[in-house]
Amino acid sequence: MTRLLDALARRPVDRPPLWIMRQAGRYLPEYRELRRRHGFQESIRDPRIAAEITLQPIRRFGFDGAILFADIMTPLEAMGVHVTFDPGPKLTPATLAEVADLPDLDLERVANVAETLRLVREAVPAEVTIIGFAGAPTTLLAYLLEGGASKDHLLLRRAMHTGGGELDAALDTLARAMHAYLTMQIDAGAQVVQLFDSWAGVLSRELLETRAFPAAASVLADLDVPTIYFAPGAGHALASMRSVGADAYGVDWRIPIDEAWDTLGGDVAIQGNLDPALLLTDPTTIRAAVDDLLTRTAGRPGHVVNLGHGIDRRTPLEHVAALVAAVRGGER
Ligand code: CP3
Repeated sequence: MTRLLDALARRPVDRPPLWIMRQAGRYLPEYRELRRRHGFQESIRDPRIAAEITLQPIRRFGFDGAILFADIMTPLEAMGVHVTFDPGPKLTPATLAEVADLPDLDLERVANVAETLRLVREAVPAEVTIIGFAGAPTTLLAYLLEGGASKDHLLLRRAMHTGGGELDAALDTLARAMHAYLTMQIDAGAQVVQLFDSWAGVLSRELLETRAFPAAASVLADLDVPTIYFAPGAGHALASMRSVGADAYGVDWRIPIDEAWDTLGGDVAIQGNLDPALLLTDPTTIRAAVDDLLTRTAGRPGHVVNLGHGIDRRTPLEHVAALVAAVRGGER
């Protein structure tokens, strides 16, 4: 058993496990170096490059989890959707009916992802846990309707109010595909999977409960490994979030972690929740924040240390090192 698997099962650990969302990315000079020679999607498609990028943060910081290098949009390409990155995803806006009619995920077209996971397993020590991931149906739908990023996600919100049967069908198409995609990742070596619902937080509590959470639950149902559900900005619906049926829930920095945990309920694990902006401050401020975080979760098994969202690309490496040292030194 690894530290991360122990924490997700709420077993006691010598110190809480640590990994960072977007840990494989642009704050690392070795990532920027590789990306000077290879495009983003090329890097995902070539298992040797994708595995190398997955390993970069492990080599430098010895995180407890290695998250697959890919994007939440990657499997949509295996459903016939054309996606480019600039640096965020860009695609042709689709209607609900078009999303509902997308073909099943072609597993052959994500064979590179399976190969990446196998290469990562060969390269990392047994105590490093391999994390697979997918985007949740609501968040993928937001990108498909808008054709890219959006400040307010008005098209997603409109669809959630008026979509009816077509909305259910669209969410269901995406949920079935992501279930197949995660099942493939688990078969290839993913020991934990995280479902990213990055934009669900724009929805009302009622729409989260009736639409987003059930769609996420059907992605995660009957998977053979521990699951993490992460919906930043959805603190207004923490009390009902457990209906997703995950083993652990990621929380952002807006709510103190102990309060969030009490609201979620005692029988789930929790992940988070340092503000990524903290890593733009200084080592003393970072140590104090880690200390406060670990005090809030002390004596309660089931905490995975992470940020409350992805690491910013301007983060200095010394600040990540300070975070790692503070968590390592923070055994209590
Ligand atoms: O280290 C890891 O976490 C693994 C790799 C990973 C990436 N994207 C690499 C990436 C993961 C898990 C993701 C998930 C992802 N992608 C999410 C969910 C997490 C979240 O932030 O809420 C979302 C919403 C996306 C969509 C996406 N992809 C956006 C918004 C962007 C632009 C980001 C930016 O900072 O400008 C991307 C591109 C992307 N995905 C990059 C990386 C390293 C940067 C691309 C580059 O190198 O040019």
